[in-house]
Amino acid sequence: MTVKLIRGGTIVTATDTYQADILIRDGIIEAIGLQLEEDGAEVVDASGHYVFPGGVDPHTHLDMPFGGTVTIDDFESGTIAAAYGGTTTIVDFCLTTKGEPLQSALDTWHAKAEGKAVIDYGFHLMISEINDEVLAELPAVIDNEGVTSFKVFMAYKNVLQADDGTLYRTLLTAKELGALVMVHAENGDVIDYLVKQALEQNQTDPIYHALTRPPELEGEATGRAVRLTALADSQLYVVHVTCAAAVEQIAEARNQGLEIWGETCPQYLVLDQTDLERPNFEGAKYVWSPPLREAWNQEVLWNALKNGQLQTVGSDQCSFNFKGQKELGRGDFSKIPNGGPIIEDRFSLLFSEGVRKNRITINQFVDIISTRSSKLFGLFPRKGTIAVGSDADIVLFDPNVERVLSAETHHMKVDYSAFEGMKVTGEPVSVLSRGEFIIRNKQFVGTVGSGRYIKRNKYGTTDNDHAAKVMINS
Ligand code: URP
Ligand code: ZN
Ligand code: ZN
Ligand code: ZN
Repeated sequence: MTVKLIRGGTIVTATDTYQADILIRDGIIEAIGLQLEEDGAEVVDASGHYVFPGGVDPHTHLDMPFGGTVTIDDFESGTIAAAYGGTTTIVDFCLTTKGEPLQSALDTWHAKAEGKAVIDYGFHLMISEINDEVLAELPAVIDNEGVTSFKVFMAYKNVLQADDGTLYRTLLTAKELGALVMVHAENGDVIDYLVKQALEQNQTDPIYHALTRPPELEGEATGRAVRLTALADSQLYVVHVTCAAAVEQIAEARNQGLEIWGETCPQYLVLDQTDLERPNFEGAKYVWSPPLREAWNQEVLWNALKNGQLQTVGSDQCSFNFKGQKELGRGDFSKIPNGGPIIEDRFSLLFSEGVRKNRITINQFVDIISTRSSKLFGLFPRKGTIAVGSDADIVLFDPNVERVLSAETHHMKVDYSAFEGMKVTGEPVSVLSRGEFIIRNKQFVGTVGSGRYIKRNKYGTTDNDHAAKVMINS
């Protein structure tokens, strides 16, 4: 039995900011109050620090085969880096292949994470086809595995892309079973044509990655997914929104009362398309899909977070070394593995660029970085808040320390930082996962493999009562 008392900090949740102590027993928050006392408790001094709920990252790809290679950060290095960065829960994407039983794909993902993860984790399940076998398996995926979100790719033709019929049937099925459908919204068919055309014209540099995936094709696919969701009377979460064209579709749908949620990522908030033009092929470090956009889109995304048109910031962690992996695309941008290293910096970047620069409030920060994802993905109130009965996943954060992001000092395995040289203000000092320190005074003190798999609740329901609607909008 371990008992800890976190004393003297400023607790910040999605709704409140206040001074109080937190009593933790056996990994659970037992009491919150003023001047708490407890015999035998280990006292942790949090004065001068914000006490945040641990970050919930709804979008990671660890140990994932993609683009002819495998992401360099796995569930060990990726979750250690996440912990350093203040994230205590991730939901990773389990890929599937046509014809393979869903359970077999999930077993593969369990094997990647078990014995390695240092923070708690769940899985989203990719849906690439809907047929009798898949429909027969899905109830068990939800009830036994607690996988309550399905991912459909509208891009990556001939690799991951599903057709509109599959998306529509997934939306119908998710509505029936209590799951949330996630989409990568880009028009993969048209992109495929534009990429072939560019390569024929010898346009091979990284910048053509962006130019062959214009914002119109993200806006179009987002609008299409929204309309199919309306037709299916279902619910949708659009991952990695990058541009005004997509934000407009989501905002309009939400104004009509549709249950549409939108995520963006730190890279789209602070980097832009010109990064793809960096010399010596370094533009390859900035290849994401959808691509980085013209810089004016950043303000649109910040405003959308501020006014609630977008609700979450995921990392889309998908790291490849520059040497030997990103370099696979020298001479052909379409062979650059898509994705980048963000898991460690997501939390601090949003605090520094968002809260410190007065683009969002500190309570919005907590909602965006932790609480909302927890509610949307069936983790609330166990994760995503500081409340009696919740897991003691807690970040002690120094809001004033200034530092420079760099591959020299990050804890991911990947050999570069997408934010090299960038100054941020604020840093997680200590991080607890279920009441145990995993980061203490900026050092990893956790145990490899201590992260637990989390069976998540159905969309819109809570731990306490499966019939109760979570107030997702509050
Ligand atoms: O470029 C990206 N985003 N890579 C990861 C896979 C995905 O599309 O989310
Ligand atoms: Zn399992
Ligand atoms: Zn994607
Ligand atoms: Zn992704």
